[in-house]
This record gives sequence, structure tokens and C-alpha cells, in this order.
Amino acid sequence: MTFPLIGPFPEKPYDPAEAIALLHKFGAPATVATSGGRYFGFVIGGTLPAAVAASWLANVWDQNAAFRVMSPIAAELEDVVLQWVCQVFGLPGDCEGGLVTCATTANFTALAAARQALLTKQGWNVADDGMFGAPPIRVVVGEEVHASVLKALSMAGLGRKRVTIVEADDQGRMRAEKLPRLDVNTLVCIQAGNVNTGAFDPAGTICERAREAGAWVHVDGAFGLWAAVSPKYRHLLAGFELADSWATDAHKWPNINYDSGIVLVRDARALRSAMTISGAYLQAGTRREPTQQTPEASRRARAIELWAGLKSLGRSGLTDLIERTCAHARRFADGLREAGYEILNDVVINQVLVSFGSADKTVEVMRRIQKDGTCWCGGTVWKGRAAMRISVSSWATTDQDVEHSLTAMLRIAREVAA
Ligand SMILES: Cc1ncc(COP(=O)(O)O)c(C=O)c1O
Repeated sequence: MTFPLIGPFPEKPYDPAEAIALLHKFGAPATVATSGGRYFGFVIGGTLPAAVAASWLANVWDQNAAFRVMSPIAAELEDVVLQWVCQVFGLPGDCEGGLVTCATTANFTALAAARQALLTKQGWNVADDGMFGAPPIRVVVGEEVHASVLKALSMAGLGRKRVTIVEADDQGRMRAEKLPRLDVNTLVCIQAGNVNTGAFDPAGTICERAREAGAWVHVDGAFGLWAAVSPKYRHLLAGFELADSWATDAHKWPNINYDSGIVLVRDARALRSAMTISGAYLQAGTRREPTQQTPEASRRARAIELWAGLKSLGRSGLTDLIERTCAHARRFADGLREAGYEILNDVVINQVLVSFGSADKTVEVMRRIQKDGTCWCGGTVWKGRAAMRISVSSWATTDQDVEHSLTAMLRIAREVAA
């Protein structure tokens, strides 16, 4: 049977209700149950009920969040949620920011602002004159930089290979003592939450050195920055507030709907100069215009679901979500270690790397876990060793989900070893 959703563009209209019924019948079985409590792949959370409901509302409202005049509610809520996020991260309230699709775009947007600021100091307006003939910017990254930062560097014309790479330790933290000499032409990209180990770069030392030199520090904190809400984990974020720009995702740890990236920049002018747009028909008011801080013009009103999700949690709910998922990650690590399997990382937040022996055995256990269907985990290679990644990121994960998943993992690992 051919898949009924595939085929050439239909010549004639189709009954909308039947189109939806078709989608439901044939589309639903081809989805992944990431909203359940036993999905531990990538860094994917489930969506909070209030955020799901708010996105239905926002869709019915049909808002374009580019300019305030197009959607006063979207613009107003964007101001509110950006303030809330600054409060969670402990950043100054006058940081400027934008709501974008994902951390990759947030990284790109922040790097464009950094490029603007660094080159302005050199007397070069990159927004107007481009990169050809511009003074060089030196980019410094850690050995375990996330691929999205390299992609963002390539999109910003800074080059993914034109970087100075700083050695990292066994957890993937940049070794601050190995930093090269920094100056006013330097952009340093650091990380809050390594995608494999969950580790945090030593931000305090790096930011202090960067400040003395007049360099720009950008933080890729796609999920790790949210640990700042918890008094128990806040110490991991020490010094990150001294950076110049931050990229994060609300669709990861805080469990807001896709897509929901956030960029924050200390120098509001740099972000605005990098992202500004004007046109006779583009009606900018006297207040902040959402599109003036982001690469996109027309955009989803993602502030609406972000507001609802964060409002439904409050500080204590968000803290509980962060601490609960970290405790689940520790339980996985303890259970696997007690059964004789090697945990490859220090489980500092919600990420666990486990080896089931040789690379072949580890990959086979992971393949069977995925096929078994009790839970889902993906793989990685850490310091040359194959590992299974357990990323506990969902509000929906319960103690029972963890025990049930752990039992399945251990049963399958024993079967593979037999
Ligand atoms: C540290 C880090 N940075 C960036 C990203 C990219 O996020 P996104 O897929 O939302 O662009 C991820 C994704 O897991 C990540 O862990």
C-alpha cells in the first residue's frame, strides 16, 4: 500500500475535516512519543500542559509577532518573558533579547551582535559594509564546543575552522589556564551544559580575563543555563552572568513547545544594529519592536506559550523540574553503576553517559533498548568511547518511569552480555 499522505500536489480541494482525519490516521503512528515520561533522547523534554493550551490559543488568534502593531499581546508578553528569563539566569534587567526558533539561531544572533560590537570598536560597520575587508576577529572555542556554535560561526562569516581551540578536561570543560592572549578583537565562546556530560566551563576566570582585555564572551547555554533557578545547582553557573551574550532554549529543560530559542545580549545597541530592518510600510512604534532583535521578520508568537508555561511553573515549579530531573539522572547512574556498568561522566545535572563494555556491546544494547520500546535513549562517542546518552529533560518523567526504564536497560544489557 502506498502511504496516502504522499503524492503530487492535488488538483482539486479536499474536505478539510477529511484531510485532518487522514493526517491523524496515517501521521500519528509515525510520530515519536517525546511527550511521554520515558523519552531520554537528545535533550528533549515534554511540553507543559499550559504551554500546549496556550499554543492552541495563539494559533487560533493567528498572530504575527514581527511588529507591536501586528500583535500587541505578543509584543507585550515578549517583554515580560525576556525579563523573567533574565531573572531566572541572574542577568541584568536591561539586557536586550529576542525569541527565535532554537539555540542554533540564538547562537547565530548573539554572534552577529558580537561581530557588530567588536568591529564597531575597530571603526567598521559590518551591518552596512559586510565582512570583505573588515578587520579580523579572533574566535576562541573550547575543544568540546557544540556543533551549533560552529554552524553559527560559519553563518556569521566568522568561519567554523578559523577558530582557536582551547583544550578541554575529561568532562569537556575548557581549561581556562590554556586560554590564549585575549584582546579587543577576540570573541570567546563558552558553554553552560555540555550536551554529553552536562559540564560547565569555568566562566568566572574566563569572563574576568575577557573583561580585562575588552574581549566579548558568548555563552551557549542551550539547556544548562536553566540550572541557575535552583539554589542547589546555581553554583555551577558562577561567573556566567559576567558574559556579554547568552543563547538558550525554552524547548529543552523548561519544557516549552517547539520551537523556542532565546537570545540575550548585554549591549542592546549591538543586537539592534545587527538585526535592524526598515521599510516604508514597516510600521515601527516608539516602543521595543520584536523583529528588531531577531533574524526573522514575520514570526510565530512564541511569547504566548512561553508566558503560559513559565507562569504555570513559577520559580518553585521550575526549580522542582530542574532538581527532579537531575535526581532521576543520578538514579540512572547509580543503578547502572551498581550493576557493574561504567558511567563515563560526573553526573552534575541531567545527563548520563553509560558504557556497556566494548563499543559493539554498547551500540547493541542501545539498539535493543530502542527496539524494546520501554524507553528511548540515543548514542554518542565520548573521548573516543561509544556511550549511550540518558538525558532526563521532561516534566512528565516519574520515579516509576525511571525504575521501569532502568529495569529494561539492565535486562537488555544482561541479554547482550549472555
Ligand atoms: C549545548 C547545546 N547547544 C546548542 C544546541 C542546539 O539546540 P537547537 O537544536 O535548539 O538549535 C544543543 C542541542 O542539544 C545543545 O545541547
